Amino acid sequence: MIKVGVLGAKGRMGSLVSETVRGARDLELVAEVDVGDSRDDLRGCDVVVDFTSPGVVMDNLRWCVRSGLNMVIGTSGFDGARLAEANDLLDNSTRQTPQAAVKPRVLVVPNFSVGAVLMMKFAEQAARFFESAEIVELHHAGKVDAPSGTAARTAAMIAAARSAAGTGPAPDATATQLEGARGAIVSGVHVHSVRMAGLVAHQEVLLGGHGETLTIRHDSLDRASFMPGVIMAVRGIASLSPGLTVGLEGLLGLA
Ligand SMILES: NC(=O)c1ccc[n+]([C@@H]2O[C@H](COP(=O)([O-])OP(=O)(O)OC[C@H]3O[C@@H](n4cnc5c(N)ncnc54)[C@H](O)[C@@H]3O)[C@@H](O)[C@H]2O)c1
Repeated sequence: MIKVGVLGAKGRMGSLVSETVRGARDLELVAEVDVGDSRDDLRGCDVVVDFTSPGVVMDNLRWCVRSGLNMVIGTSGFDGARLAEANDLLDNSTRQTPQAAVKPRVLVVPNFSVGAVLMMKFAEQAARFFESAEIVELHHAGKVDAPSGTAARTAAMIAAARSAAGTGPAPDATATQLEGARGAIVSGVHVHSVRMAGLVAHQEVLLGGHGETLTIRHDSLDRASFMPGVIMAVRGIASLSPGLTVGLEGLLGLA
């Protein structure tokens, strides 16, 4: 049995993770931690799943890594600086045992939906063939951060693919604009965030070239769409190299 702890257990995602773990025969839910609960209950877990908020996740990460716990993180807000901090933390938290140096594993997953991972992969593959690439992400009105972690990661993947192919900047003649009208610029890619009651999590990658456009769209219609990826991460984290891994691609055989 894989012993699982959940941070943010009373939240929209955390409560669904707890329910899903309870329903899996090979997993045992040993700790559900939310605001006001002691993290000590997480000691002894094989893996801790964090769905809290960008404001608290780094503190949870520090605590888990220093406690030698493997961690699957779904909480958004992991930019380059945070990933670098996570790497430093992991490097400095390696424990020496009589057998070997032991470093915890941290898997940061901007999006657990298999469809969304494929959308990002397809966008990365297509990006070099088009002059223009922009992202529109649309989420429920309760989301506290913008742009989404998925949009930021898609932008970084598109930018890296365009840079590797020697694609220049996208054409844009905008000379005057109201602040924000062209969205946020993430890794050189314009990202537009929509927040609306009734939505869950959606994203369009718009690519434009000579007389044609390509739109790659993904819709998470229910939070249940994230659960197969979360469970895959919980089951698979022990097979990853110690240290930091970003994205589900490796576990899905897409890396
Ligand atoms: N990676 C993905 O696929 C994915 C999918 C959906 C949501 N998310 C992200 O997951 C995070 C959580 O989303 P949500 O909709 O469940 O939010 P939510 O607000 O419903 O839940 C967050 C929970 O964390 C708890 N919390 C806050 N501080 C805490 C702390 N210090 N210790 C323990 N618990 C604490 C809150 O009380 C709350 O119950 C967000 O960052 C969201 O963007 C990621």
